[in-house]
Amino acid sequence: MSTLICGSLAFDTITTFGGRFGEQILPDQVHILNVSFLVPTLRREFGGCAGNIAYNLAGLGGQAVPMAAVGPDAADYLARLRSWGVRTDLVRVVDDSYTAQAIIITDVDNNQITAFHPGAMQQAHLTPVPADGSITLGIVAPDGREAMLRHAEQFARAGVPFVFDPGQGLPMFDGDELSRFVQQATWVALNDYEARMLCDRIGTSVEALSRSHLRGVIVTLGADGCEVWEQGRRQHVPGVRAREVVDPTGCGDAFRGALLYGLEHGWPLARCAELGNRLGALKIAHRGGQNHVIEPSALGL
Ligand SMILES: Nc1ncnc2c1ncn2[C@@H]1O[C@H](COP(=O)(O)OP(=O)(O)OP(=O)(O)O)[C@@H](O)[C@H]1O
Ligand SMILES: [Mg+2]
Repeated sequence: MSTLICGSLAFDTITTFGGRFGEQILPDQVHILNVSFLVPTLRREFGGCAGNIAYNLAGLGGQAVPMAAVGPDAADYLARLRSWGVRTDLVRVVDDSYTAQAIIITDVDNNQITAFHPGAMQQAHLTPVPADGSITLGIVAPDGREAMLRHAEQFARAGVPFVFDPGQGLPMFDGDELSRFVQQATWVALNDYEARMLCDRIGTSVEALSRSHLRGVIVTLGADGCEVWEQGRRQHVPGVRAREVVDPTGCGDAFRGALLYGLEHGWPLARCAELGNRLGALKIAHRGGQNHVIEPSALGL
């Protein structure tokens, strides 16, 4: 059993500006905006949804197969994936592009300015979902637009059950496209904001969405855990108290890694969600999406 994780592999560069953006950006001068922020602290993290989800699934002992497109600057990322025992033959290296990267400046009030360069991610659609029977479960996580459309289609055609996880990619799609994703998917995973946007665009409710061929709709609620919807029935699975709240980046991906682990093992959705909440709470106590140490036995496995 192998789980194909379609999404991005990216680098996140996070810098800290010791002042306030509001004091540097003069409202009456924004038509000639030209500002420079001195950022004495800088960290670089391995990120992207496919990388984060694979980190969590592999850490739990699951069979993660990331599928993404990167640039030649990702050699250290590929080596990192291999160090988890993960195969990388479905990670396409695009010669003339950079790996996707986010460059983030944070000020003392936690306001953020982000530049996101998609780079090689724009070519992710060139790799198809293997139809040779080697893949038994999948997820379509935020990725290039064309890649998300094609990979969902290919999973459906191959008869491989998959989780639709539109995340921050959701605004790229209109109601008809989102309906099509839902029709093709087996489960849908969203945070509460995304659940509202998806339902608005399709013109439905989570309850109605779950009364369908879907085996479940999971809506994550931050510290409150999540809701699991099955055939119109809602079950709240309470959150787990975090040791410390340090950085929410990648909590959603940690949750999804656990969800896929449970689905690989045929668990009921509520049990998958309990593990997701435990892993999400562990993640939030660490900076970045891949710096928490996963000990399956400490998570009750
Ligand atoms: N403050 C918290 N304390 C404990 N667990 C948390 C907390 N925040 C998030 N989690 C866990 O992580 C899961 C996902 O979080 P959330 O609902 O915030 O997703 P998200 O908005 O997609 O996050 P992101 O996109 O930033 O990774 C939650 O369902 C919960 O299990
Ligand atoms: Mg999210």
